[in-house]
Amino acid sequence: MDEFVTVVDHPLVQHKLTLMREKDTSTAGFRQLLREISLLLAYEVTRGLELTTKTIDTPLCKMEAPILEGKKLALISILRAGNGLLDGILELIPAARVGFVGLYRDPETLQPVQYYCKVPNMLEDRMVIVVDPMLATGNSSVAAVDLIKAQGAKNIRFLCLLAAPEGIARMREAHPDVPIVTASIDECLNDHGYIVPGLGDAGDRMFGTK
Ligand code: URA
Repeated sequence: MDEFVTVVDHPLVQHKLTLMREKDTSTAGFRQLLREISLLLAYEVTRGLELTTKTIDTPLCKMEAPILEGKKLALISILRAGNGLLDGILELIPAARVGFVGLYRDPETLQPVQYYCKVPNMLEDRMVIVVDPMLATGNSSVAAVDLIKAQGAKNIRFLCLLAAPEGIARMREAHPDVPIVTASIDECLNDHGYIVPGLGDAGDRMFGTK
Protein backbone atom coordinates (compact mmCIF):
# COMPACT_ATOMS: atom_id res chain seq x y z
CA MET A 1 0.00 0.00 0.00
CA ASP A 2 1.27 3.47 -0.81
CA GLU A 3 1.79 6.21 1.75
CA PHE A 4 -1.43 7.99 0.81
CA VAL A 5 -3.54 5.24 2.41
CA THR A 6 -2.69 3.38 5.61
CA VAL A 7 -4.77 0.30 6.36
CA VAL A 8 -4.62 -0.47 10.07
CA ASP A 9 -4.27 -4.24 9.95
CA HIS A 10 -3.91 -4.78 13.70
CA PRO A 11 -5.75 -8.00 14.69
CA LEU A 12 -7.92 -6.21 17.27
CA VAL A 13 -9.06 -3.67 14.66
CA GLN A 14 -9.85 -6.39 12.13
CA HIS A 15 -11.71 -8.50 14.70
CA LYS A 16 -13.84 -5.59 15.91
CA LEU A 17 -14.55 -4.51 12.34
CA THR A 18 -15.89 -7.98 11.50
CA LEU A 19 -18.28 -7.78 14.46
CA MET A 20 -19.43 -4.34 13.30
CA ARG A 21 -20.09 -5.57 9.77
CA GLU A 22 -22.42 -8.36 10.95
CA LYS A 23 -25.98 -7.32 10.32
CA ASP A 24 -27.28 -8.75 13.60
CA THR A 25 -24.93 -6.72 15.81
CA SER A 26 -27.11 -4.57 18.09
CA THR A 27 -27.02 -0.77 18.19
CA ALA A 28 -25.42 -0.91 21.64
CA GLY A 29 -22.83 -3.41 20.44
CA PHE A 30 -22.09 -1.40 17.30
CA ARG A 31 -21.59 1.77 19.33
CA GLN A 32 -19.30 0.09 21.83
CA LEU A 33 -17.20 -1.49 19.06
CA LEU A 34 -16.96 1.84 17.24
CA ARG A 35 -15.69 3.49 20.42
CA GLU A 36 -13.08 0.78 20.91
CA ILE A 37 -11.93 0.74 17.29
CA SER A 38 -11.69 4.52 17.13
CA LEU A 39 -9.15 4.48 19.98
CA LEU A 40 -6.98 2.10 17.96
CA LEU A 41 -7.36 4.12 14.76
CA ALA A 42 -6.60 7.35 16.64
CA TYR A 43 -3.31 5.82 17.78
CA GLU A 44 -2.32 5.29 14.13
CA VAL A 45 -3.57 8.57 12.69
CA THR A 46 -1.70 10.65 15.30
CA ARG A 47 1.61 8.87 14.77
CA GLY A 48 3.10 11.95 13.08
CA LEU A 49 2.46 14.36 15.96
CA GLU A 50 5.57 16.38 16.75
CA LEU A 51 7.33 16.01 20.07
CA THR A 52 9.52 18.35 22.02
CA THR A 53 10.98 17.84 25.49
CA LYS A 54 10.52 19.41 28.89
CA THR A 55 12.56 19.11 32.04
CA ILE A 56 10.74 17.17 34.73
CA ASP A 57 11.62 15.77 38.14
CA THR A 58 11.05 12.06 38.56
CA PRO A 59 11.30 10.73 42.15
CA LEU A 60 14.93 9.91 41.31
CA CYS A 61 16.33 12.70 39.20
CA LYS A 62 15.71 15.36 36.57
CA MET A 63 15.15 14.28 33.00
CA GLU A 64 14.39 15.76 29.61
CA ALA A 65 11.09 14.01 28.83
CA PRO A 66 9.14 13.96 25.54
CA ILE A 67 5.92 15.92 25.36
CA LEU A 68 3.64 16.93 22.47
CA GLU A 69 4.68 20.14 20.75
CA GLY A 70 2.58 22.96 19.42
CA LYS A 71 -1.10 23.69 19.40
CA LYS A 72 -3.72 21.11 20.41
CA LEU A 73 -4.86 19.07 17.45
CA ALA A 74 -8.27 19.63 15.89
CA LEU A 75 -10.82 16.92 15.15
CA ILE A 76 -13.41 17.74 12.51
CA SER A 77 -16.45 15.49 12.46
CA ILE A 78 -18.53 15.21 9.30
CA LEU A 79 -22.10 15.07 10.59
CA ARG A 80 -23.67 12.88 11.62
CA ALA A 81 -21.78 9.60 11.43
CA GLY A 82 -18.43 11.26 12.16
CA ASN A 83 -19.59 11.79 15.74
CA GLY A 84 -19.33 8.06 16.43
CA LEU A 85 -15.61 8.08 15.65
CA LEU A 86 -15.16 11.40 17.44
CA ASP A 87 -16.35 10.13 20.84
CA GLY A 88 -13.74 7.39 21.02
CA ILE A 89 -10.90 9.60 19.84
CA LEU A 90 -11.76 12.21 22.47
CA GLU A 91 -11.28 9.58 25.18
CA LEU A 92 -7.68 9.23 24.01
CA ILE A 93 -7.09 12.94 23.27
CA PRO A 94 -9.41 14.81 25.64
CA ALA A 95 -7.74 18.19 25.03
CA ALA A 96 -8.34 18.12 21.27
CA ARG A 97 -10.33 20.99 19.76
CA VAL A 98 -13.44 19.89 17.90
CA GLY A 99 -15.27 21.17 14.84
CA PHE A 100 -18.31 20.02 12.88
CA VAL A 101 -19.13 20.14 9.20
CA GLY A 102 -22.69 19.37 8.06
CA LEU A 103 -23.31 18.48 4.42
CA TYR A 104 -26.32 17.10 2.60
CA ARG A 105 -26.60 15.80 -0.93
CA ASP A 106 -28.60 18.00 -3.31
CA PRO A 107 -31.18 15.62 -4.83
CA GLU A 108 -30.92 17.31 -8.26
CA THR A 109 -27.19 17.72 -8.66
CA LEU A 110 -26.16 14.98 -6.18
CA GLN A 111 -23.43 17.38 -5.03
CA PRO A 112 -22.79 18.05 -1.31
CA VAL A 113 -24.21 21.31 0.07
CA GLN A 114 -22.97 22.77 3.35
CA TYR A 115 -25.60 23.45 6.04
CA TYR A 116 -23.30 23.78 9.05
CA CYS A 117 -19.66 24.63 9.68
CA LYS A 118 -18.10 25.50 13.01
CA VAL A 119 -14.40 24.82 13.42
CA PRO A 120 -11.68 25.71 15.95
CA ASN A 121 -9.53 28.79 15.41
CA MET A 122 -5.91 28.79 14.23
CA LEU A 123 -6.36 25.66 12.13
CA GLU A 124 -3.21 26.62 10.25
CA ASP A 125 -1.16 25.83 13.38
CA ARG A 126 -2.79 22.50 14.22
CA MET A 127 -2.79 18.93 12.99
CA VAL A 128 -6.35 18.54 11.73
CA ILE A 129 -8.02 15.13 11.58
CA VAL A 130 -11.24 14.92 9.58
CA VAL A 131 -13.35 11.95 10.70
CA ASP A 132 -16.12 10.11 8.87
CA PRO A 133 -16.58 6.34 9.21
CA MET A 134 -17.43 5.73 5.54
CA LEU A 135 -15.34 7.04 2.63
CA ALA A 136 -17.79 6.09 -0.13
CA THR A 137 -18.04 8.33 -3.24
CA GLY A 138 -15.66 10.79 -1.60
CA ASN A 139 -17.89 13.76 -2.50
CA SER A 140 -18.60 14.85 1.07
CA SER A 141 -15.04 14.11 2.20
CA VAL A 142 -13.60 16.25 -0.59
CA ALA A 143 -16.08 19.05 0.19
CA ALA A 144 -15.27 18.89 3.93
CA VAL A 145 -11.53 19.08 3.27
CA ASP A 146 -12.15 21.97 0.83
CA LEU A 147 -13.89 23.83 3.67
CA ILE A 148 -11.18 23.08 6.21
CA LYS A 149 -8.46 24.20 3.82
CA ALA A 150 -10.41 27.42 3.16
CA GLN A 151 -10.25 28.02 6.95
CA GLY A 152 -6.45 27.76 6.80
CA ALA A 153 -5.71 24.12 7.68
CA LYS A 154 -2.51 22.80 6.10
CA ASN A 155 -1.65 19.64 8.01
CA ILE A 156 -4.73 17.45 7.45
CA ARG A 157 -5.41 13.72 7.75
CA PHE A 158 -8.59 11.83 6.96
CA LEU A 159 -9.72 9.02 9.25
CA CYS A 160 -12.39 6.48 8.33
CA LEU A 161 -13.44 2.96 9.17
CA LEU A 162 -14.09 1.72 5.64
CA ALA A 163 -12.96 3.16 2.33
CA ALA A 164 -14.19 2.35 -1.17
CA PRO A 165 -11.61 2.45 -3.98
CA GLU A 166 -13.81 5.09 -5.68
CA GLY A 167 -13.61 7.39 -2.63
CA ILE A 168 -9.88 6.94 -2.29
CA ALA A 169 -9.39 7.81 -5.97
CA ARG A 170 -11.55 10.93 -5.58
CA MET A 171 -9.60 12.08 -2.51
CA ARG A 172 -6.27 11.33 -4.16
CA GLU A 173 -7.26 13.47 -7.13
CA ALA A 174 -8.64 16.41 -5.09
CA HIS A 175 -6.43 16.30 -1.99
CA PRO A 176 -3.23 14.32 -2.59
CA ASP A 177 -1.72 16.07 0.44
CA VAL A 178 -4.30 14.55 2.85
CA PRO A 179 -3.29 11.02 3.87
CA ILE A 180 -6.04 8.54 4.68
CA VAL A 181 -6.09 6.10 7.58
CA THR A 182 -8.68 3.33 7.43
CA ALA A 183 -9.42 -0.11 8.85
CA SER A 184 -10.29 -1.58 5.43
CA ILE A 185 -10.43 -0.91 1.71
CA ASP A 186 -13.58 -2.67 0.57
CA GLU A 187 -14.46 -3.91 -2.91
CA CYS A 188 -16.64 -1.24 -4.50
CA LEU A 189 -19.75 0.94 -4.26
CA ASN A 190 -23.18 -0.37 -5.24
CA ASP A 191 -25.69 1.59 -7.35
CA HIS A 192 -26.96 3.41 -4.24
CA GLY A 193 -23.49 4.58 -3.21
CA TYR A 194 -23.15 2.01 -0.40
CA ILE A 195 -19.81 0.40 0.30
CA VAL A 196 -19.75 -3.36 -0.51
CA PRO A 197 -19.40 -5.56 1.49
CA GLY A 198 -19.44 -2.65 3.96
CA LEU A 199 -21.56 -2.49 7.08
CA GLY A 200 -24.68 -0.68 5.87
CA ASP A 201 -25.56 2.87 6.87
CA ALA A 202 -23.10 3.76 9.62
CA GLY A 203 -25.29 6.59 11.00
CA ASP A 204 -28.37 4.36 11.20
CA ARG A 205 -26.42 1.57 12.82
CA MET A 206 -24.83 3.77 15.50
CA PHE A 207 -27.95 5.82 16.27
CA GLY A 208 -30.56 3.07 15.82
CA THR A 209 -32.45 4.91 13.06
CA LYS A 210 -33.73 3.54 9.75
N1 URA B 1 -22.44 5.88 4.08
C1 URA B 1 -22.77 4.83 4.87
O1 URA B 1 -23.21 5.00 6.00
N2 URA B 1 -22.60 3.59 4.38
C2 URA B 1 -22.12 3.35 3.15
O2 URA B 1 -21.96 2.18 2.78
C3 URA B 1 -21.79 4.46 2.35
C4 URA B 1 -21.95 5.72 2.83
